[in-house]
Amino acid sequence: MKKDYTLIATAAMGLESVVAKEVKDLGFENVKVENSRVVFDADAAGIARANLWLRTADRVKLLIGEFEAKTYDELFEQTKALPWEAFISEDGEFPVIGKSHKSKLYSVPDCQSIVKKAIVERMKQKYGIAQWLKESGALYRVEVALLKDQVTLTLDTSGSGLHKRGYRIGQGEAPLKETLAAALVQLTNWRGDQPFYDLFCGSGTIPIEAALIGQNIAPGFNREFAAENWSFLSADIWDKALEEAEDLANYDQELHIFGTDINPKMIDIAKANATEAGLGDLITWKQMNALDFHSDQLGGYIISNPPYGERIGQKEEVEKLYEKLGKHLAQYPTWSIYIMTANEKFETLFGREASKKRKLFNGFIRTDYYQYFGKKK
Ligand SMILES: C[S@@+](CC[C@H](N)C(=O)[O-])C[C@H]1O[C@@H](n2cnc3c(N)ncnc32)[C@H](O)[C@@H]1O
Repeated sequence: MKKDYTLIATAAMGLESVVAKEVKDLGFENVKVENSRVVFDADAAGIARANLWLRTADRVKLLIGEFEAKTYDELFEQTKALPWEAFISEDGEFPVIGKSHKSKLYSVPDCQSIVKKAIVERMKQKYGIAQWLKESGALYRVEVALLKDQVTLTLDTSGSGLHKRGYRIGQGEAPLKETLAAALVQLTNWRGDQPFYDLFCGSGTIPIEAALIGQNIAPGFNREFAAENWSFLSADIWDKALEEAEDLANYDQELHIFGTDINPKMIDIAKANATEAGLGDLITWKQMNALDFHSDQLGGYIISNPPYGERIGQKEEVEKLYEKLGKHLAQYPTWSIYIMTANEKFETLFGREASKKRKLFNGFIRTDYYQYFGKKK
């Protein structure tokens, strides 16, 4: 693949390697895994493809420049030296957001306004404008990020976060982010033709993401991206990426995905979300207590995000539920079971040591993903 640009796919803590695998599977090269981000080379078409296809990344940013700055002068001059006019159109709107960690320039508002001033000055010179820039056109969100005095300047190609797939019209109290739900599925060996259950499906995020993965449907198919309106990228790259996604979707793949929840309202919401995602009747939804799970299949996958019982008074109830669930699911030794919870006693309560555990963050809540591999049939 041609290298014209350096892209940065941002990732939730703990998901970097999952994002990196997706990036490599899409054919991108020179992939580097760093804290909370994956850096890789791409051509213009790659900007569209990365946005359309990455299931577990938060955003795709375009790297404009990197340098060291310990003073505001250094920040200003080096920002101004970058070719902003090659990216931001004359009427482009470019708000600047920022973050700073372990750096001399620790005041984020000051860094943001210095960067803004530097870009304004550069653009006025290059576009020959004496007065104000109009900023009435497409949105180019600039980020200035400082880490140990190293400045990284990027443009956000995604717009709203990639978890916004465009299908969530309803949600419960604790919906899972779509990117994390996709990661939970990708961290298993499930293939589309095997039975798949989420016994605590809530608004249906895990089954919906599984169905999109099962039929190889691009997660960004239903939404727009900020960079679609950028004039230095030809409209062609988005049309081609959508065409490619349409070709690669495997709508004939039969799926056996079930989403169940004790709360009938959640089932209604999950159904509505699945319909919005264009999945129609592909997923079977049912109001059911997880403890009533039954299957005659020789094996399958249970992937769930049950309540954690973090609120006062709920913990005991949830712990009893884990105990009963462990006993009930012990009848299905050939099934693979994946449970994400913040309860540290989960293995003891469930009655089995996990085959594998992985630390994951659900927002700011530290959880573990307990993975029980099914015995060979
Ligand atoms: C953390 S939420 C799941 C959120 C879901 N992953 C989403 O994205 O919306 C936990 C769900 O478990 C359900 N639940 C609680 N006890 C249950 C039980 N015994 N059987 C089945 N579902 C239960 C709740 O109604 C709630 O929707």
